Amino acid sequence: MSELEANLASLTARFERAVADAPDARALDEVRVAFLGRSGEVTGVRRSIGTLPPPERPGAGKVINAAVESMEAQLTDALARVERAALERSLGDTIDVTFPGPPARLGALHPVRQVAIDVARYFTRHGFAVVLGPEIETDANNFDALNIPPDHPAREGLDSFYLRPDRLLRTHTSPMQVRSMRRHGPPIAIIVPGKAYRRDAVDARHLYMFHQVEGLMVGHGVHFGHLKGVLVGMCRELFGADADVRFRPSFFPFTEPSAEIDVKCPACHGTGMQDGLQCRTCGGSGWIEIGGSGMVHPNVLRSVGYDPDAVSGWAFGCGLERIAMKRYDIDDIRAFVENVPGFAEGLA
Ligand code: DAH
Repeated sequence: MSELEANLASLTARFERAVADAPDARALDEVRVAFLGRSGEVTGVRRSIGTLPPPERPGAGKVINAAVESMEAQLTDALARVERAALERSLGDTIDVTFPGPPARLGALHPVRQVAIDVARYFTRHGFAVVLGPEIETDANNFDALNIPPDHPAREGLDSFYLRPDRLLRTHTSPMQVRSMRRHGPPIAIIVPGKAYRRDAVDARHLYMFHQVEGLMVGHGVHFGHLKGVLVGMCRELFGADADVRFRPSFFPFTEPSAEIDVKCPACHGTGMQDGLQCRTCGGSGWIEIGGSGMVHPNVLRSVGYDPDAVSGWAFGCGLERIAMKRYDIDDIRAFVENVPGFAEGLA
């Protein structure tokens, strides 16, 4: 290789390195001036042609011209590359409003609402109507008409939120039995989902605002067997075909006979123990009560103008939080009102 070619090779190598290292258009222009400018490196090599024997000069000129052409092409490519990179960098700072966003979180129904919907679906399938009642009630509807006499402990201000001497936040959904029967003659078959309020101390099983669903069926020949059949059917629908349900004799002023409806405790699965201690959710009994029920008391039928000798009926009232706890294995009723993000989605 001639000395000129060796010089040109080393120059080209340095040029290529400089182009690769140039971060932007300005740096590339500096490279162009340093190598291809009027007093740049290539001009120096061109000058050395004069030192060659004349026959070699045209060949040397061609070699230099080819090198220059290649360098110019490399500069053009490099310029396009740094401009593209600069554009991409600037786009990174810009909001592209046409770009699809992250998928929206759909959320989920609150478990209490989900249970209310499922209960309503079961009962409407069996011919019941869904009715809603007011949360502010008269004590006549909330108590008297339901055979709860004025001296009954449930009437104490301690248990209820009174707004006026004769108005309170309903302590149960049962007053809608009274309102519905006064409005319609028998037969009647309704459920009443809604809120109820009690001055209870808040703990793992109690809130002062909670939800119930009331059920009422009155007609000719309606008996306790119908009540059991319908409620066991409801529990199987809500908890699965193998749900453990029991009816425990109880007392309510507005039913006779009366029974409480229990399902196996969701926390201890009926053992009564949790982590070696008495189960906090069921208090050690292995069952949790989801509601009360019974045959509508003759005094209640009379108070709404029905004839207890002509018609009979059953009623029940269930806590929707209690049902949701059993269904979704929630061991503390306070979880329903704590508004923890993702609570409902986690259960759905
Ligand atoms: N009202 C009762 C309560 O809140 C529940 C209840 C019991 C409702 C028996 C009924 C019934 O309709 O028959 O504890």
